[in-house]
Amino acid sequence: MIKVSGLTKDYGARRAIHNVSFDAQQGEIVGFLGPNGAGKTTTMRILTGYMPPTDGEAVVAGYDVVEESLEVRKRVGYLPETVPLYNDMIVFDYLKFMGELRKIPNVDERVDEVLDMVGLFDRADGYIGNLSKGMRQRMGLAQALLHRPEVLILDEPTIGLDPGQVVEVRELIREIGRERTVLLSTHLLNEAQNICDRVLIINKGKIVAEDTTENLQARLIGAERVVLRVRGEADDLAKTIKQVKGVQVAETKDDGSVEFEFASGKDVRPEVAKQVINAGYDLIELRPLGMSLEEIFLELTGSDAAKK
Ligand SMILES: Nc1ncnc2c1ncn2[C@@H]1O[C@H](COP(=O)(O)OP(=O)(O)OP(=O)(O)O)[C@@H](O)[C@H]1O
Ligand SMILES: [Mg+2]
Repeated sequence: MIKVSGLTKDYGARRAIHNVSFDAQQGEIVGFLGPNGAGKTTTMRILTGYMPPTDGEAVVAGYDVVEESLEVRKRVGYLPETVPLYNDMIVFDYLKFMGELRKIPNVDERVDEVLDMVGLFDRADGYIGNLSKGMRQRMGLAQALLHRPEVLILDEPTIGLDPGQVVEVRELIREIGRERTVLLSTHLLNEAQNICDRVLIINKGKIVAEDTTENLQARLIGAERVVLRVRGEADDLAKTIKQVKGVQVAETKDDGSVEFEFASGKDVRPEVAKQVINAGYDLIELRPLGMSLEEIFLELTGSDAAKK
């Protein structure tokens, strides 16, 4: 379980995250989706007890991350953005050492088990320094899983992995997520959709959207977006369109056109056209706008690129 309320972190004068609140339940995989610098790593480092917030509270696995950070660390598996590893140690020995620190019973067996889970069993006797980048990433995952933590916090778990490994690691995370709480970060929309039950979209330190993956998907493929343009003044155009049954969103753009959305299969365009004309406007354009995965993301994160 993770419960975060009003989390804020300043690095000197720079506010990295601002008033972030969300929660994640046992058996749930929550995705933290956001572009570079959004504040994903900052939030995760606070949640693992490695760094205190400037303001706000976070409870992870039942313990306060500031007041009881040792208890939190016992119950959390953390895959950091850059995995710190001792290059001159043997893979197996390193994990065994970590397991002993955590007082894991039958540590040899458990190390074999996690090495198998992350596909590094055949590298057990080799040096960490000889692992490839993707293997180091999987080593980090092995370390995060070792003590069977009830909460897993994974910072970009599939970064640097080859396509086959991406599939395997995603499957592994999904399996783990059935019983535990998983929070993972990614800047890949399809990854968030693919693994997560729920997605939090974070941008510039703030959560800008939160939805179940299904709803997000519905927004991606289920909603159709249309641009409508009339001749001359169009002050109440959006209002007129909004009144049509089935219209979900209607907003006026800078150029005076109105973009509106309706659910796929419930085409409201004829009715919208009728109402717009009845209201006395000269309808000159009614054109569908495809909404790609990237566009939704860019729109939610307020990037200028989306506002072509
Ligand atoms: N140690 C630090 N000192 C100062 N500023 C920092 C520090 N760490 C992060 N920041 C700033 O905080 C903001 C959020 O950074 P953060 O690393 O949390 O983003 P992120 O979402 O993990 O990005 P990425 O996708 O690139 O990993 C950025 O503006 C970053 O420059
Ligand atoms: Mg990061």
